[in-house]
Amino acid sequence: MKHSFTFFPLLLLLTLFSVSFSAIEARSLLACNPQEELTGNLDFCKASLPIHVRVRDLIGRLTLQEKITLLVNNASAVPRLGIQSYEWWSEALHGVSNVGPGVKFGGAFPAATSFPQVITTAAAFNESLWEKIGEVVSDEARAMYNEGTAGLTYWSPNVNILRDPRWGRGQETPGEDPLLASKYAARYVQGLQGNDAGDKLKVAACCKHYTAYDLDNWNRVDRLHFNARVSKQDLEDTYNVPFEACVLEGKVASIMCSYNQVNGKPTCVDPNLLKGIVRGEWHLNGYIVSDCDSVQVLYEKQHYTASPEEAAADSIKAGLDLDCGNFLAVHTEQAVRRGLLSEVDVNNALANTIAVQMRLGMFDGERSAHPFEHLGSKDVCSPAHQQLALEAARQGIVLLKNRGSSLPLSTKSHQTVAVIGPNSDVTATMIGNYAGVACGYTSPLQGIGRYAKTIHRVGCDNVACNGVQGFEDAEAAARQADATILVMGLDQSIEAESRDRLGLLLPGYQQELVSRVSKASKGPTVLVLMSGGPIDVSFAKFDPQISAILWAGYPGQAGGAAIADVLFGTTNPGGRLPMTWYPEGYVARLPMTIMDMRANPFKGYPGRTYRFYKGPVVFPFGYGLSYTKFNLGLAHAPKDVSVTVPHASLHALKNSSMISNGVKIKNTNCDELIIPIHIDVKNTGTLHGSFSLLLFSTPPPGMWFTNKQLIGFEKVNVAAGSMQQVKIDVQVCKHLSVVDKNGIRKIPMGEHKLQIGDLEHSISVQASLEDINPARP
Ligand SMILES: *[C@@H]1O[C@H](CO)[C@@H](O)[C@H](O)[C@H]1NC(C)=O
Ligand SMILES: *[C@@H]1O[C@H](CO)[C@@H](O)[C@H](O)[C@H]1NC(C)=O
Ligand SMILES: *[C@@H]1O[C@H](CO)[C@@H](O)[C@H](O)[C@H]1NC(C)=O
Repeated sequence: MKHSFTFFPLLLLLTLFSVSFSAIEARSLLACNPQEELTGNLDFCKASLPIHVRVRDLIGRLTLQEKITLLVNNASAVPRLGIQSYEWWSEALHGVSNVGPGVKFGGAFPAATSFPQVITTAAAFNESLWEKIGEVVSDEARAMYNEGTAGLTYWSPNVNILRDPRWGRGQETPGEDPLLASKYAARYVQGLQGNDAGDKLKVAACCKHYTAYDLDNWNRVDRLHFNARVSKQDLEDTYNVPFEACVLEGKVASIMCSYNQVNGKPTCVDPNLLKGIVRGEWHLNGYIVSDCDSVQVLYEKQHYTASPEEAAADSIKAGLDLDCGNFLAVHTEQAVRRGLLSEVDVNNALANTIAVQMRLGMFDGERSAHPFEHLGSKDVCSPAHQQLALEAARQGIVLLKNRGSSLPLSTKSHQTVAVIGPNSDVTATMIGNYAGVACGYTSPLQGIGRYAKTIHRVGCDNVACNGVQGFEDAEAAARQADATILVMGLDQSIEAESRDRLGLLLPGYQQELVSRVSKASKGPTVLVLMSGGPIDVSFAKFDPQISAILWAGYPGQAGGAAIADVLFGTTNPGGRLPMTWYPEGYVARLPMTIMDMRANPFKGYPGRTYRFYKGPVVFPFGYGLSYTKFNLGLAHAPKDVSVTVPHASLHALKNSSMISNGVKIKNTNCDELIIPIHIDVKNTGTLHGSFSLLLFSTPPPGMWFTNKQLIGFEKVNVAAGSMQQVKIDVQVCKHLSVVDKNGIRKIPMGEHKLQIGDLEHSISVQASLEDINPARP
């Protein structure tokens, strides 16, 4: 989604009339204003009635023309029913954002808390943090809505799997692993939507972009034309997994379909993907929205339908409820006249969108009764919210190298620090894309300046680093200082929406700057990387002159403070990489357009992500060091588990090849089976630290070809010298299953090898016959 809107005239108006204008705006209601005699007390306004009754009442009052104006993001007003216009498109990927037209900063709301970019927050591997951020973001969103400067429908999060390291939008996602992405998605959505409100919504989240969308613009292939060829196995096993978790666990109120085609069909007109899977299998309670202008795109750019009316009709009939764009407002009436679509189809779409508005309380009349009415400008950018942004950055930073414990630095022996590099004093770079206006920034230079005297040289003016003019100055600074920090990496000029990378190396002469400065440096040299996608920094990993490497992702408004806290040891880093860091040679071996997750040795295709790729890496998925030492011990873990299979599969059971192909999870009782794994985490060092325990499993060999997969994780704080026991519940159906070539989820029989750090443990899964004569009460 990206459109450029000009808010200038509106901003001017707000400034000129801010006092009287905001007072009026604050009190304007979407609908059901009790002061309006004719419209304020219609049945659809009665909060005491069930929502489906109110929805039916409202739809029954609308003309076809009125209905059609409600099918688009800038939904029109229906003045005769007392309904105001509503802008559906707001964004809140990692803070309330003004990328969508529904949010306007200014007046009492000049800014909102800008949390780290999602890839960084994912690196924290801390579920309660993700939910907490969602709660804070929705507090700020509600506060802005109360004053008429934001909507309540947020088209976040982006939960596409980070399949290829070059993807420009990888930064927006929780990384390459389906379980990690699922847990992130569910918890962030729960935080945004509010957990305790039953069917009511604090704000409505939206998981996007469904599905197999993870190519923006690579080698002249762009997302508006790309046809993703995806196997049933990969769809079920990888691409759809986070979306399913959004709906089933997060209870998300919306799903957005994507620009790309999947196997020759644009996702927004695919009845199997929308009505079949999202509504039929997962039972979405909410609405399906298009990516912006994607209905128009499938007609005009993909030429998928012969006429615009067919594009309108086919998408609505496939299950689309709302168009981000104007296409449905223009073409739906004619589609109905031509008989391509019935008014009932339009009603069904509206029922899904209006029900969400009602769950948000937008048709409940007087605001004073609403649970979030008290939120106002004091709740946006509050000290506690800004503190959480700092805390999130601290939790997400990953220590990748620490030669001879050169970190943390000490304020005694490192009193003068050279701070070098194109990202050393950046602000907006730290919040990445889909950001808003930050409450304020602490750049790395400012953060480090709180601990030491700094000598600042950029070395290169920007991350493209096209020249070496500034290198000598940078070397001179490093010669004088007690320690040197190089803050390098990428920004939105290198990786962004509509901008995938071609390679994985640092851009321009950055690598040369790092090497030259590290040679000149009197004290230890630390390389700090800002980036969303992985960077091949093999040169720095192996260079003994470079003492340490930190990856900060895009660490948000307080990123520089968090980086400095880690450098000087007030924070002990505990982040872990949410994606594989591949060597540059890897991407030469696979076009970005090939979606296959599994390796194909016959074609020289290496496979994707740690689950299927076995070649060399710069840093593996889940990697991350600490300033303290942890020892793990297996306290308790079952050795075998038996899943029942129905009598009918008796002969299959006797057939060993069928057993080694696994048993369909639908045919077993594995849903009820939970294996608790207890692990002791001992901090044997001298510093307090947090440890993310990652539990992987390698299934018995079979047609799934899975190296290993993450099946659970838990983060704990452990004081120096003490021990914590962690329990991870392995759900047999969900976590020990694999997906076969036909997209069927199965439990393979035999040894599943669990791995937690350097611990290994095997669980033997056996099949037993279902009791055909269960004891009756
Ligand atoms: C919605 O947007 C379209 C074009 O972007 C415009 O023609 C139309 O007037 C807008 N409708 C409203 C209600 O603002
Ligand atoms: C066992 O299963 C395989 C694969 O489905 C099949 O080819 C074979 O005939 C089966 N053997 C028996 C004894 O049922
Ligand atoms: C997880 O995040 C929450 C919220 O910031 C924090 O209170 C908790 O200490 C974190 N857990 C660990 C183990 O770091």
